Amino acid sequence: MSNTLGKNFRLTSAGESHGPAYVGILDGCPANLALSEADIQPFLDARKPGADKTTSQRREQDKVEILSGVFEGKTTGAPIAFIIRNQDARSGDYEAYKDVYRPGHADYTYQIKYGIRDHRGGGRASARETCLRVVAGAIAEKYLQQKNIYFEAYLTQIGEHIIQKDDQQQIEKIIQEVRKDKNSLGAKVKVRAINVPAGVGEPIFNKLDAVIAHTMMGIPAVKAVEIGSGVASAQQYGSEHRDAITPTGFASNNAGGILGGISTGQAIEITVTFKPTSSIPQPIETINHENLATTVEVLGRHDPCVGIRGVPVVRAALAMLIMDQLAISCI
Ligand SMILES: Cc1cc2nc3c(=O)[nH]c(=O)nc-3n(C[C@H](O)[C@H](O)[C@H](O)COP(=O)(O)O)c2cc1C
Repeated sequence: MSNTLGKNFRLTSAGESHGPAYVGILDGCPANLALSEADIQPFLDARKPGADKTTSQRREQDKVEILSGVFEGKTTGAPIAFIIRNQDARSGDYEAYKDVYRPGHADYTYQIKYGIRDHRGGGRASARETCLRVVAGAIAEKYLQQKNIYFEAYLTQIGEHIIQKDDQQQIEKIIQEVRKDKNSLGAKVKVRAINVPAGVGEPIFNKLDAVIAHTMMGIPAVKAVEIGSGVASAQQYGSEHRDAITPTGFASNNAGGILGGISTGQAIEITVTFKPTSSIPQPIETINHENLATTVEVLGRHDPCVGIRGVPVVRAALAMLIMDQLAISCI
């Protein structure tokens, strides 16, 4: 199992959805960064379930506690260990799925690969694990702010609806309707890293584009990653796509801020596609552990559109990666 992400700024993750807690160890944070739990909590609050009508109603406080690597309010350069406790797990809700595989989930593949799985809340495969990435991303952002590098992420599409930037009312209306239909929807999230200097990243095998795709694809339910104009590039002429260079900078940004695997100094622009939530209260064919046909209907507290809570996760993933790449690039 691969549970560590990054080389120089490196997060190791442990925990399950219905275990006592999630635990992270973050290596490679520079010393002397002013850091407290209060710097991190707003990022976790943006990801936590039950925050509004559009997400899962599981009520988790998602309070982070720093256990090491911070002394008198500053990082020491030592590993930062931290813990987020699970407080609202209702494992009984999952008894019905103990011996059946929920389609669209990792139940089947975990069982085949390991011969054992914690079925409660999806166990290790649960996207609750992304809370650890959000902590690491928040710490990365705190550091990168000093270099005037900042991040933004927002929904651009839910199902077939194009979302006006940060229009909460529009999002709520779509989610209300899809919930009523006992269904779910996929989504697209755009994430931008602004003021990343030119020269970050490497060519060939570890192109910045390649490591971004790797990091984003590691987020549960992500099915596609686009850099700059991405998939739409297929419909463009070369005369439209290539970005003219002027003495004052690039005239456009179809490249998404990366050429030859190296940052151009423009905003790094990524679009991530999330699949629709698999857990919906509609019956579907499946099999049980004895390979016998059955049906399953997934009840309980779920996100009708995982892309909504994916927004802070995608942002954290890019912040972690830029932090890691800056260290590698020595800029
Ligand atoms: C923030 C977040 C929340 C999620 N919440 C749910 C959920 O409530 N119900 C669900 O079926 N899937 C949810 N997922 C997706 C599953 O975790 C994921 O589809 C599953 O583990 C299988 O992995 P895969 O889709 O990457 O193959 C969520 C994903 C993210 C990023």
